[in-house]
Amino acid sequence: MSEQIYVGADHAGYALKQKLVEELRRLGYDPVDVGPKTLDPQDDFPDYAKPVAEAVSAGKAPRGVLTCGTGLGMSYTANRFPKVRAAVAWSPEVAELARKHNDANILVLPSRFVSEQEGLEILHKWLDTAFEGGRHSRRVAKIDE
Ligand code: RB5
Repeated sequence: MSEQIYVGADHAGYALKQKLVEELRRLGYDPVDVGPKTLDPQDDFPDYAKPVAEAVSAGKAPRGVLTCGTGLGMSYTANRFPKVRAAVAWSPEVAELARKHNDANILVLPSRFVSEQEGLEILHKWLDTAFEGGRHSRRVAKIDE
């Protein structure tokens, strides 16, 4: 069965989200698009961050992807949920370290600061990089102590 990945955006991230969903499908994942389904310039990022973070927090899906203008609002919201580690990544290198060292289970893309091509490269790196464990497991565990 394909891995489900919850995906959400606000108006600033809407266009990039459409590409991310398409790419995840092309790669054989099962993206669950929580919206928005159409572009609404008045929408609010928490309305889309919450369902994605809730799903990951509850273990309904192992990973999620969010995008808004800076990535900040989405990450603030998602990181309030237990067991969520949402990382804003603006380059493949940051995405790689977010997986290797921080075991990031939600990728947050700042749509106003990455091109569509960069967004896809960041997504690929995040999808394909494993958590290194070891000393990083201790550090990640301490987040919840
Ligand atoms: C929306 O204009 C913008 O504030 C939002 O996408 C995000 O950057 C918030 O953190």
